[in-house]
Amino acid sequence: MSIPKKDRSQTRGGGGQYFEATPQAQSRPRSVVLAVRGLSLPLQTDSGVFSAERLDAGTRVLLAEAPPPPAQGELLDLGCGYGPIALALASWAPKARVWAVDVNERALELTRLNAEKAGLNNVIVCRPEEVAADLRFAAIYSNPPIRVGKAALHEVLLSWLPRLDEGDGAYLVVQSHLGSDSLARWLAGEGFRVRRLASKNAYRVLEVRK
Ligand SMILES: C[S@@+](CC[C@H](N)C(=O)[O-])C[C@H]1O[C@@H](n2cnc3c(N)ncnc32)[C@H](O)[C@@H]1O
Repeated sequence: MSIPKKDRSQTRGGGGQYFEATPQAQSRPRSVVLAVRGLSLPLQTDSGVFSAERLDAGTRVLLAEAPPPPAQGELLDLGCGYGPIALALASWAPKARVWAVDVNERALELTRLNAEKAGLNNVIVCRPEEVAADLRFAAIYSNPPIRVGKAALHEVLLSWLPRLDEGDGAYLVVQSHLGSDSLARWLAGEGFRVRRLASKNAYRVLEVRK
């Protein structure tokens, strides 16, 4: 699939893809400010992670449009990157425990560093397989890894969405031109209740329930 020009900064960090386990791109630390819904958190980013130059526009839409997280319980940021979603959730719900998972080791290190710098000790940063299989979530928030391809994306979603507590919601942001509507149809076909919660700047926020 050819990648539209404006998306290349999100997939390349001087070589390789943002979802590699150990990015080959030479480290070039920089920082962005997570400024949304009253937050103003400086976050460190680096080459080889998703949207290293600026807070991703889809992530911004998700954080602005999805409902605030439940005050307590286990929350999941699926595909945390350098941590903007996980840290926003952890700031808004200091009594909740936020699981920030990713396959990219550099992204995990950045999320750890960013949580520590922000003084947020309610964030657990780890690889997906390190989360106990019987853990259930009160909410899931994700800017999911569309670029891994449809089959891999579906596998990832089917491994996490069933772990929502009954009645609780997952909030996914997807660009319309990257298949938000077909993803919504596929999720509905898998038996989930799917609702388009918001549509803004070419992004859709989907609410998904079991
Ligand atoms: C679109 S990026 C979003 C990153 C970050 N949440 C943000 O908003 O900037 C998706 C993330 O999912 C991660 N990812 C890819 N495959 C994954 C998998 N199987 N399990 C968990 N995360 C994965 C990628 O490494 C990437 O960091």
